[in-house]
Amino acid sequence: MSNEFHPEDPQRRAFVAGAVGAGAALAGAGAMTRAQAQEASARPRDFDGKTALVTGAARGIGLACADALAARGANVVILDVAGQIAEVPYPLATQADLDGAKAQIEAHGVSCLALKGDVRDMTMQQRAVSAAMDSFGGIDFVIPNAGITQTGFLEELSEEEVDLVLDINLKGVIKTIQAVTPILRQQNSGRIITMASVTGRMGAQRFPVYSATKWAVIGLTKTTAEALARHNVTVNAHCPTLVRTGLLENDYVLSTMVPGATLSWEQFEGFAQEMHLMPTGFYGPEHVGSLAAFLCSDGASLISGDVFDIAAGFNARFPA
Ligand SMILES: NC(=O)c1ccc[n+]([C@@H]2O[C@H](COP(=O)([O-])OP(=O)(O)OC[C@H]3O[C@@H](n4cnc5c(N)ncnc54)[C@H](O)[C@@H]3O)[C@@H](O)[C@H]2O)c1
Repeated sequence: MSNEFHPEDPQRRAFVAGAVGAGAALAGAGAMTRAQAQEASARPRDFDGKTALVTGAARGIGLACADALAARGANVVILDVAGQIAEVPYPLATQADLDGAKAQIEAHGVSCLALKGDVRDMTMQQRAVSAAMDSFGGIDFVIPNAGITQTGFLEELSEEEVDLVLDINLKGVIKTIQAVTPILRQQNSGRIITMASVTGRMGAQRFPVYSATKWAVIGLTKTTAEALARHNVTVNAHCPTLVRTGLLENDYVLSTMVPGATLSWEQFEGFAQEMHLMPTGFYGPEHVGSLAAFLCSDGASLISGDVFDIAAGFNARFPA
């Protein structure tokens, strides 16, 4: 693995500048409207020459985070299973989603490597890290985001069902962090943002193992922040509440959220509106993406070991 580069290495910068230039030329050849071009040129490009690695970014929150970083100039490596895992009872992203994510990211004039692979597989995680190093010469931002949901009271879940969620939502995040840590330590720089959940901040009896993995991700975030602080690496967790993505908007969740009843999406939306004190129900993943971009910015360079809720006022009811 060619991890001898320093992030400020002129060779790396030259390569990246070339890649960005090529991407911009391609985007210019596409169908960008005048308004889109004006909006794009008004955005800061403070991540030019930086590289992000985002897991589970073929759609949803991962894609929104990748998109927000790319919009500010970062090249992106995506790792997503982009196919069905047989034991997961709702549709995961597809190859078409992965291809669409790559195109969406590259429309910002940056480069995107889209890799198909399972975060449970350490070899794939290391391949994604090697691809980032070989193509871009460093890794600045890491978002171990891939995750699945699961409903059901604890005593209803089989050992295989418990293992599935632990293996993806917790061990998958552990593996991403293990794969990138040697690089970040050597660079003496980096940002890691984990994707926990409001269910990692409170009990959630219908999501017992999912909730346990999100509490664990917060613990892992704080431990990693402590371990990497001397290496100038910040590590923080995001805790969204209810985001409109394929993880919750599917027949499996709607038919298992309430025992003995199948919710309509409108009923679930009503629940989200009651939960949020601000006037919103399910919100879009771009809200999570914009927080990720902030945590990767210079303004957040001393923020580490923290947990950030995106809760539309819900945790105004939490104790301080
Ligand atoms: N949607 C919400 O309301 C919400 C709230 C809090 C936290 N989260 C967390 O945010 C993260 C993203 O969720 P989302 O809502 O965007 O869900 P999503 O289902 O839309 O996206 C998850 C992505 O991860 C991929 N993925 C799943 N298992 C994988 C595996 N083993 N290896 C590689 N890729 C895999 C899927 O293909 C998909 O592209 C998850 O960790 C989730 O727990 C979501």
